[in-house]
Amino acid sequence: FSPVLVDSFNRRHDYLRISLTERCNLRCFYCMPSEGIELSPREHILTDDEIIRLASLFVKSGVRKIRLTGGEPTVRKGLDNIIARLDELRPFGLDSIAMTSNGLTLHRRLPDLVRKGLTHLNLSLDTLDPFKFEFMARRPGHGAVLRALDVALSCPGLQSVKLNVVVIKGLNDSEVLDFVKLIKDKSLSVRFIEFMPFTGNKWDKDKMVPSTQLLDTIKHQHPTIARAPDELNDTARSWQIPGYTGNIGFISSMSDHFCSSCNRLRLTADGQIKARVCLFDAKEVSLRDAVRNGATDEDLLQIIGSAVIGKKEKHAGMEGIDVLANRPMILIGGPQQSL
Ligand code: GTP
Ligand code: 5AD
Ligand code: SF4
Repeated sequence: FSPVLVDSFNRRHDYLRISLTERCNLRCFYCMPSEGIELSPREHILTDDEIIRLASLFVKSGVRKIRLTGGEPTVRKGLDNIIARLDELRPFGLDSIAMTSNGLTLHRRLPDLVRKGLTHLNLSLDTLDPFKFEFMARRPGHGAVLRALDVALSCPGLQSVKLNVVVIKGLNDSEVLDFVKLIKDKSLSVRFIEFMPFTGNKWDKDKMVPSTQLLDTIKHQHPTIARAPDELNDTARSWQIPGYTGNIGFISSMSDHFCSSCNRLRLTADGQIKARVCLFDAKEVSLRDAVRNGATDEDLLQIIGSAVIGKKEKHAGMEGIDVLANRPMILIGGPQQSL
């Protein structure tokens, strides 16, 4: 494992999130400002070859897991080709090729992507109510996402399927027990995510539902729910209801951050990494410019190494995060929606 990917708190960064595009086919309000976002000029976006060059360097330095994000990763042309090329990095130590998607087009494409090498899928779905979906995502598509979920659950070769639910007070928090019902007979993790602040998403502490509150609601109905083992470096704390096939996770970034076990690197669609690695840190450094200026692998590793070593111990907390200086989530490499 290359020391370049180890920070001053001894965290080993073996998980790379690559944003493939700034675009999205939904416009979820918590992800994108209502006035929209200004897309980077096309030539600023990394090409397939640049993505593979950087991914290959990261894998050879110790990255074991790559997650493709967006915007919405499925709107990038040639996604299947990128997955196939990442699959060729397995002999160098890459174990997992994961993707976080809103699932809008996956009912048609997923089996092919899995054949190309995709191993893990996280689907974003915040509500089981089609009307609420349209309100939250500002676009229709609820039925398509449910179909994608069915396809995913019956797709041989896919090692895990997780459902991401961003919980907003007064909107979908009343659906928590319905989501729990969903995992009774499905091999699925439902993960309830605390609403996080990003530029333009009108975050407000009062709209955030702390995970402890959701857990209390679930415990009331399911008193036998018990803590389950977490995967290493997992963002979610897992719980299991005896007799249920799936499990429940809580991603409590705001009320109980998981920074001490953070192993993530992020590459934005326009080729930047966070200069101090953290999602909530606004400062960035361009690997794209370095690549286009003829940087050698050693030059790139030096840039990556100084970003990793500058990483802070933890994020600044609800009052301290510099939300306005940071990008909106859609441009960091998360979630859905855009132009
Ligand atoms: P797994 O690899 O399955 O653990 O996925 P993940 O939870 O890391 O990624 P996913 O894209 O499914 O994101 C789920 C939620 O976790 C989203 O709300 C992300 O914004 C959030 N998240 C992902 N990575 C980080 C991180 O490094 N820090 C924080 N605070 N939140 C993160
Ligand atoms: N807070 C929490 N999660 C968010 N996501 C997007 N924006 C936010 C936010 N403000 C989630 C999406 C997707 C994941 C990559 O990030 O729902 O599942
Ligand atoms: Fe990692 Fe920053 Fe997220 Fe903490 S807030 S888990 S350090 S990316």
